[in-house]
Amino acid sequence: MRANPQLGQACHTIVKSRLTVSVPDANQNARISAYTVHRMLEVLTTDRLFILTGAGVSAESGIPTFRGVNGLWRNYRIEEVASPDGWARDPRLVWEFYSMRRRVAAGAKANPAHSALARVEEKLRERLFLCTQNVDNLHEQAGSKRVVHMHGELFKSRCDSCSRPPFEDANTYEAVTDLPQCECGGGIRPHICWFGETPFELDKIFRALDRCTVFMAIGTSGVVEPAASFVAQVRGRARTIYVGPEEPANAFVFTECHLGKAGEVLPKLFSAAEANC
Ligand code: OAD
Repeated sequence: MRANPQLGQACHTIVKSRLTVSVPDANQNARISAYTVHRMLEVLTTDRLFILTGAGVSAESGIPTFRGVNGLWRNYRIEEVASPDGWARDPRLVWEFYSMRRRVAAGAKANPAHSALARVEEKLRERLFLCTQNVDNLHEQAGSKRVVHMHGELFKSRCDSCSRPPFEDANTYEAVTDLPQCECGGGIRPHICWFGETPFELDKIFRALDRCTVFMAIGTSGVVEPAASFVAQVRGRARTIYVGPEEPANAFVFTECHLGKAGEVLPKLFSAAEANC
């Protein structure tokens, strides 16, 4: 166990701060202790919710996940399109990948899962912390106001060399002659956290984890760190709930699982919270 120096004594269990893929421990009993299907979530007035979303929450909007049957990582190699080395080797290929993803995301519409989360945020306000690994803007499209994009944002770019802040950019760049350059001479890259880099806003995320009484992960396979370890950080003092059509790799850490598509489960799950809080 090692304390995160950025966080003083607050953070004890999370020691992984770079984006990595974790290998599930074969000795862990990958069973969730209780399965509750489509029961309503009781939220007390003292509760603070930490919601972690993954690619599954946008799947019903037509945005492909990464590791499923038609997942993006079946056709692209992480090290070629989502790593600093890949960027240094072939920025055109990287931009081809993110241009394709910008095109798909630009045509996508928020689904009932995004809308349910936006409605709960409206009720709970600062008692709900929405942290997404997704780089699309569907939570915002549905009306969520305070979304923490720990892996960056697809419709933003930044310079790979100077300190110019990230800026809105919905363009696609596919030909070598298209590749955007900064005034400083550096290359303009997608504002995405790649493997080996440090996700955004971790301090804020760890503080919210420390305070939450309910932790819910939705549509994430539980293999990418540090997000996969968030649930272990709160286990024992917060309710830990998973929502998705199948068990994640870190299923053994959750106490409840609502099996099903997020767009079908979340509106029912949150109906009590919407009515009572
Ligand atoms: P994955 O593709 O690894 O996992 C998606 C999860 O969504 C799976 O567990 C599915 O079972 C679940 N799922 C599929 N359809 C669903 C639905 N309708 N409702 C709810 N869940 C559904 O995606 P992530 O876990 O989000 O990072 O991946 C984490 C990170 O790895 C991504 O942010 C990305 C990726 O490499 C970067 O590229 C930086």
